[in-house]
Amino acid sequence: MDWSKLDKPYSTLENNPLAGRDLLRLLDLSPEELHGILSTSLAQKQAWKAGERSKPYADAAVAIIMEKPSLRTRVSFELGAKRLGAFTTVLSGKDSAFSRGESVKDTVMVLERFVDVIVIRTFEQKKVEEVAEYAGIPVINALSDSFHPCQGLGDLLTIYEHLGRLTDFKLAYVGDGNNIAHTFLESAALIGFELVIATPVGYEPNAKIVEECRAVSACGGANIHLTHDPKVALTEADVVVTDTWASMGDEDEHAERVKVFEPYRIDAAALALAKPGAIFEHCLPAHRGEEVTDEVMDGPASVIYDEAENRLHVQKALMSLVMASKK
Ligand code: CP
Ligand code: NVA
Repeated sequence: MDWSKLDKPYSTLENNPLAGRDLLRLLDLSPEELHGILSTSLAQKQAWKAGERSKPYADAAVAIIMEKPSLRTRVSFELGAKRLGAFTTVLSGKDSAFSRGESVKDTVMVLERFVDVIVIRTFEQKKVEEVAEYAGIPVINALSDSFHPCQGLGDLLTIYEHLGRLTDFKLAYVGDGNNIAHTFLESAALIGFELVIATPVGYEPNAKIVEECRAVSACGGANIHLTHDPKVALTEADVVVTDTWASMGDEDEHAERVKVFEPYRIDAAALALAKPGAIFEHCLPAHRGEEVTDEVMDGPASVIYDEAENRLHVQKALMSLVMASKK
């Protein structure tokens, strides 16, 4: 796979290998399919910016289930679907699909009579899998406790746009071994870039996910490193990434975590360990002054708003590919 260029978009929606498929985690994809989705995202983004407007899914509908709060994911899925011509319905808060205790089976079997794609943000990955098991339509994970594959796609497209390649770089992820760390592990396994994850003791990524990623890595896992020393990760990194120290669902642990994670903050001194010209990513929402300082968030290395924008482009492309069986 040539990761130096994202130049192989799927030429037709009809004949793409993602048609009718789910995206529950990045490891659902082969390296070729990941390359294809990213190339298609880039091509569709460029076409959109050039003023091209096409609505290939004028009669389609997308259900967006949100069992946790969201700004970026919700807005970008809604607008991405609408720009493809599809209707959207958002089920969140007390109106969420599962808030009355209806079974996953009944909920999904009913929803799939109405819509063409289900997007779901929830807690356990198992629930995302259960939804996919019952759904005869594509299901897209919009974040679970374990993975955030759409964030992963946006992060990769942003790295490509700023570094000009998706190969031969070192990515330092410093912070909690959470859903975002797991998603970078999957990206590194599929692509082969060097990934160093630095976490405090006790906050490492899930060992089973690390092993799965090492097992599928084309480099035999030799490109994936875990450490407790942020300096090891940051030194000579091309891309520096952090995320909140207390994810949605971990709020009760916030005060305790702030003490433990203090040495893992990305401030100007931490960023200075990276290569000159290194970029800084954060999926947002950020807790300015905790995991990252204002100086870094607002500094020249920061690509956080490009990263947020790219959520829309990758998800719009992803929906256009998985909905293709509908056409
Ligand atoms: N990065 C991200 O998924 O943001 P939201 O939680 O606002 O959707
Ligand atoms: N790790 C964060 C990501 C938010 C987009 C969380 O799960 O809350």
